[in-house]
Amino acid sequence: MNLITVSETESTNSLIATMPDAPHGTVVRAVAQTAGRGQRGNSWESETGKNLTLSILVRPSHVKATEQFLICRAVSVALVEMLDKVLPDGLRAEIKWPNDIYVGDRKICGILIENSLTGNVIDRSILGIGLNVNQREFKSDAPNPVSIVNLNGGRELELEPLIEMMWEAVDRNLSLCATESGRAVLTEKYDSRLWRGEGFHTFALPDGTRFKAAIRSIADNGVMTLEEQDGTRRSFAFKEVQFVL
Ligand code: BTN
Repeated sequence: MNLITVSETESTNSLIATMPDAPHGTVVRAVAQTAGRGQRGNSWESETGKNLTLSILVRPSHVKATEQFLICRAVSVALVEMLDKVLPDGLRAEIKWPNDIYVGDRKICGILIENSLTGNVIDRSILGIGLNVNQREFKSDAPNPVSIVNLNGGRELELEPLIEMMWEAVDRNLSLCATESGRAVLTEKYDSRLWRGEGFHTFALPDGTRFKAAIRSIADNGVMTLEEQDGTRRSFAFKEVQFVL
């Protein structure tokens, strides 16, 4: 890992994208982001110096453009495994499809993956990670944020050791993408840590229609298949359906 820390930037994903020759394992961390970006065009709130806002550049040579969801699986699994080591006993982080990290019904970590493709190959992948660590209160309209300090009795954590743990977990899980057996392990780990992975829950379509369904599978391309109570199965790509909190 090659760690670059900047005191302030708009977005670490944008900054690392200006470093085209950065090697695999470059990590850009900002103490403050002035325009942190989230999924669906949202912004990402993080109080200066309190949390981890960083981007990891990886060059996953064994992942084709059509297999991009593998990276999403690997990073999501890496984050929950890393959190296993720092959350208090009895608390477990889970993966809200496709790649939010939740503890209970609250979001502790957001991931924004931006890939550059050359033909059918992923030239580089920027893994933007916002992990809430020491921030006690959140001001934005994000519905349900939480940080480690809210869950561990108020004990603040040092940030630097967490970066090392994060890189170790990301690198280890990305390596699994190199073989079929590794990919199978990754899929099993991802599926076993899915938030609301058991039982029926309420979902909403973009037009507001709500329905109850259970998650049946997450395919290799990231498509989620849901089963309604009458047995009807429907499949959705990211943004085509939302969990109702
Ligand atoms: C989400 O909406 O859940 C994704 C949030 C991703 C936030 C991180 S913070 C570091 C990196 N830089 C950004 O601008 N966004 C990501």
